[in-house]
Parts: sequence; C-alpha cells; structure tokens
Amino acid sequence: MGLPSFAIGNVQIDCGIFQAPMAGVSDLPFRILCTEAGAGVTAMEMVSAKAVCFHNAKTLDLIQTAPEEKTVSLQLFGHEPEIIAEALEILEPQRFDILDLNMGCPVHKIVANGEGSALMRDPALIERIVAAAAGATSRPVTVKLRKGFDEEHVNVVECALAAESGGAAAVCVHGRTRPQMYSGSADWSCIRDTVQALHIPVIGNGDITDGESAVRMLEETGCAGIMVGRACQGAPWIFTQIRAMLENGRTVERPSNREIIRLILRHASMLCSLKGEYSAMPQMRKHVSWYLAGFPGAAKLRRDVNEVSTLAELEALLTRAFPYAAGGRNL
Ligand SMILES: Cc1cc2nc3c(=O)[nH]c(=O)nc-3n(C[C@H](O)[C@H](O)[C@H](O)COP(=O)(O)O)c2cc1C
Repeated sequence: MGLPSFAIGNVQIDCGIFQAPMAGVSDLPFRILCTEAGAGVTAMEMVSAKAVCFHNAKTLDLIQTAPEEKTVSLQLFGHEPEIIAEALEILEPQRFDILDLNMGCPVHKIVANGEGSALMRDPALIERIVAAAAGATSRPVTVKLRKGFDEEHVNVVECALAAESGGAAAVCVHGRTRPQMYSGSADWSCIRDTVQALHIPVIGNGDITDGESAVRMLEETGCAGIMVGRACQGAPWIFTQIRAMLENGRTVERPSNREIIRLILRHASMLCSLKGEYSAMPQMRKHVSWYLAGFPGAAKLRRDVNEVSTLAELEALLTRAFPYAAGGRNL
C-alpha cells in the first residue's frame, strides 16, 4: 500500500503516521522514541493559549523539541481568537512545524470553559479561531475534532468545513463524541464523510492498534494520514509495526523484554536529563507501567515502580526482576 504521503500547507509529510497529542504522555523523550520507531509526525503536549500569553513558565517548558523530531506539531487550546493570535505571535520564534488547534478535548474543566470539544457547538467560532490563528503564524494550521459534541449533535463535517473556510491546512477527526471520551469503539464513517466533504487532507484517528487496523483506517475512510494515540503509550515500536505493514505488508514482532527494558531506561534517562530526577521519576512511573504490559509479574512490578524515586533505583529494580537485561541502560 505504501506510506501515506501528502502536504499540510507548505509542510511535506513523507510518512503520514502521526503520534497523537496526549497530555501527560507525549513528553520529549517519548516523542524521540516514537520518531526513532518510525512516526512521521510527533505532537507535543497541548498548551493553553492563555497561559502562553501570561508567559507561564511551566507551559513554556512543555514547548521543547529535539532535532531528531522530523515534523513536530504544537497544539494550543483556547476559545478566544485574539488570545490564540497573541499566543502565536509569542511562539513564532519557537521551533514547530505545524500548529494544531484542540477542538476535541472532552475533559470537564476544559469544556466548562468553552474550550476543546465545546467549540464544536459553535462552527462559526471555529472558523474565526482558525482564521485568527492562520493570520498570526507562519506555520500551517490544523484542527483536531471529534465526531461531535454528543450523539444528538454529530456535526464533525460542518465543523471541519468551518475550519477549512477559516484557512485550516488539514483536520484530524477522532471518531468518538465527547461523552464517549475514549470508550466504546470509534466510528470511522464520520471520518469518511469528512474526507468526502473537504478539499484539505483529513487524518483519521481512533482505535488504530496495529498494522492491520492502520491499513483498514486508510482503506475504509480514504483519509490522507493516520494518527495513533493510546496504542503507542508504552509501545513506541507500534510505529515500526505500522510502517512495515504499510510499506511492504510485513508483520514485525513486538521487541523482546530485554529490548523493552533498555527502552524504559533510555526514556527515564532522557527524562531525567531534561527535567531533573526529582520531577522526572514520578512522571516516569506511568510510562513504566505501560511499558510493562505483558511482562511476567507486571502487577507486582508496577507497585514496586511506584516506590522508586531515582534512576538508579529503577535500574536496580528492573535488573533484579529481569537479570538477563542487566546493565540495560548501556546495552
Ligand atoms: C492520556 C490522553 C491524553 C490525551 N491528550 C490529548 C490532548 O492533549 N490533545 C488532543 O487533541 N487529544 C488528546 N487525547 C486524545 C488522543 O489524541 C486521541 O485522539 C485519542 O486517544 C483517540 O485515539 P486512540 O484511539 O488511538 O487512542 C488524549 C488521549 C489520552 C488517552
């Protein structure tokens, strides 16, 4: 079938396999591992446009990229066109290739503020926000949408058309409504409907878990590119598997436990260098729990990992549990 390739505005996407933006997950070391595994586009954790305008240090800390990242997108959330434009003027000197607007977040705090998926109740506002963003940044603007605000308001096509009129260069559609959060199965027919209605590329998202489902998403919806979320948590190698399937129909095995331990320790070591051990290790615990899925004794190990507060302790714990992977970080 070949790798999906297309352009988002002036940005050429040679490998249209996107790592989904995931707050609390898609930190810089994780994105480096996803890139190494074969993701064509990586996405930073979402940031608030208002917080950028206030020069909030924690927010600005999230906006870091690595030279290894091929094409990286920065996602903003907000509901005021002028605040989004102001944030983009502040962000203009930063490195990012694509500016993504979050119009799908289902979290109560965000929706109550009229942001994220709440914007899908007002397609005219979507158009104004996209136009303001497109006028304020030199990067192509994309919009991430859901199927609809709820089952009574399935209007992704209308919202996507509004985004296109506002100047969006692509949209991503997650085939679930806001109350579904991440439960149930994603409805890909709304992605197909959006592909058919728009002239700009559409990226399909929801329930891609392996090479086969990636192929199905592309075939069933006609989408230009695909985006993988939860399935890459603790499993960046899924991008290798999807790539191999798309490039030549090849199935690639999950890495060995030894290789996964090595990956965990690299991830932890990079995160510690970036943030310092004190902040990095608590954040690393959830990554480790995801990486350990399918390992023998994973339940006990996850409990033990929650007690770990240094990289050396993590390495010692994993080495004790899996002596064959001893010295994992330097393997
Ligand atoms: C922990 C977590 C955090 C997420 N954070 C964001 C976010 O910040 N911005 C966003 O647009 N979507 C976010 N999402 C949604 C994902 O990008 C994606 O749309 C969703 O998980 C469906 O794709 P999947 O079935 O491949 O997981 C998040 C999802 C999860 C599970």
